[in-house]
Amino acid sequence: MYFNTPYSLAASLTLVLFMPCSVSAAPWARRDLDGGLQVSLPDRLSPTNDDGTFNHTAAIRLNYKTLCKHQANLHNLQENTDGLPEGMKIIDVASLTRQATAHVRRDDNPFIGGTHALRRRFKKEGAGETLTDVGYDTEWKGNILVGDPGQDLQLDFDTGSSDLWVINEACTTGPCAKKTKKYDPSKSDSSERQPGTFTIQYGDKSTVSGPIYTDEVTITGITVKNQALSAVTELSEGFLRDPISGIIGLAWPDISNLKKTPWFLNAVEQGVIKKREFGFYLSKKGSELYLGGTDPKHYEGTPEYHEVDSKEGFWKVKNARIHLGEEVVLKEFPTIIDSGTTLMYGPPDAVKEFYSKVEGAKVYDGEQGFYTFPCDKVPEVAFSWDEGKKFVIPPEHFNLGTTEEGSSSCIGALAASDIGLGKAWLLGDILMKSLYAAFRFGEKEINKGAVVGFAKLKQKK
Ligand SMILES: *[C@@H]1O[C@H](CO)[C@@H](O)[C@H](O)[C@H]1NC(C)=O
Repeated sequence: MYFNTPYSLAASLTLVLFMPCSVSAAPWARRDLDGGLQVSLPDRLSPTNDDGTFNHTAAIRLNYKTLCKHQANLHNLQENTDGLPEGMKIIDVASLTRQATAHVRRDDNPFIGGTHALRRRFKKEGAGETLTDVGYDTEWKGNILVGDPGQDLQLDFDTGSSDLWVINEACTTGPCAKKTKKYDPSKSDSSERQPGTFTIQYGDKSTVSGPIYTDEVTITGITVKNQALSAVTELSEGFLRDPISGIIGLAWPDISNLKKTPWFLNAVEQGVIKKREFGFYLSKKGSELYLGGTDPKHYEGTPEYHEVDSKEGFWKVKNARIHLGEEVVLKEFPTIIDSGTTLMYGPPDAVKEFYSKVEGAKVYDGEQGFYTFPCDKVPEVAFSWDEGKKFVIPPEHFNLGTTEEGSSSCIGALAASDIGLGKAWLLGDILMKSLYAAFRFGEKEINKGAVVGFAKLKQKK
């Protein structure tokens, strides 16, 4: 019964009230000395503390962020297409939140008590502060430039959304107050105000919104003209102290709130990127996004390409399998490959079935969908697509840490969550750190022959 939403989700969502939606780890870009197309990405946030224990607070934040982002995507998809594809649904976050709050007051279920405690912690810490190590600030030589002359910004590259938005210079209060890098359209010769307003309204009533502009956007020397973007003047609390100054979505136009062509596709249309492909190498150190192809420096052989079902706006690859050692535990499920999500999530029933096969696995936090396994037996988990190669999640990635200091129970990086994506599993950085991922649009029509490729990482010598 643990994962029977809406209750479990409802309880989780109480926190949303205090911890509105925010974005994920921010990359920084640096001019490649060879004049190439690499964008360096910073280390990603991990819900594991330095001492090897699982950081429950950080993990809960990651879950909310993911839920919020995809709820916004589904709203956009519904608006841009003939309604949501079968199985996908928009979760009524507001009403669930009310239910959950009522439940909390009525009941002193110890677990819910835990939620209160967490909530207090969130209040004290201020939301969003951990999303990026501010120590990196000194390294942010950002060559993501918006406008003419270019204004230097720090953006998050997200294969799980499709809009470009940056913080407006005019946003000075609340979470904007601490932002050092913002966009001032009035100082750009090439900015042009467009009609309408960009609004992402999350279910919990927190919003990100602002006027729409077109302007030049240059990433690692590649300039796209007339790029639609929003300069947001309203930002949810979740962005507090977070050094990110915006998001650049790399997914499909169908989930765009601006209803405009995303940056990468514009670059292709304007002829400044020749090959309609980009490649992600995510690692603890030296992560890289390669624009206009893939970077063989980071992988072995050739990527194994799989057809993308782009009708839903995501980088969605069907027909996946999850393996446990030699055994195929579940098969023929779709997966969404999302660089803006940290963990891996599957539908509650499927994830429950998976862990039922893992020796010694137990539910850790039914509300948030986390499971434990014995630390001395980290399961060997792998994914494959279309019966192709197996891509193993290295144990150091699958294991999010011990439940507490000295404990012999560890938390798995695959969590159960009903995000509204139907049967699809959402595979974030934990998967992406385990392989090289290539995202390619169709040659003539972008959605004809679009593929995602997976390759084995080059072994570091
Ligand atoms: C756990 O994460 C929270 C918020 O994400 C952070 O503020 C806190 O310092 C972390 N705890 C430890 C022990 O590092």
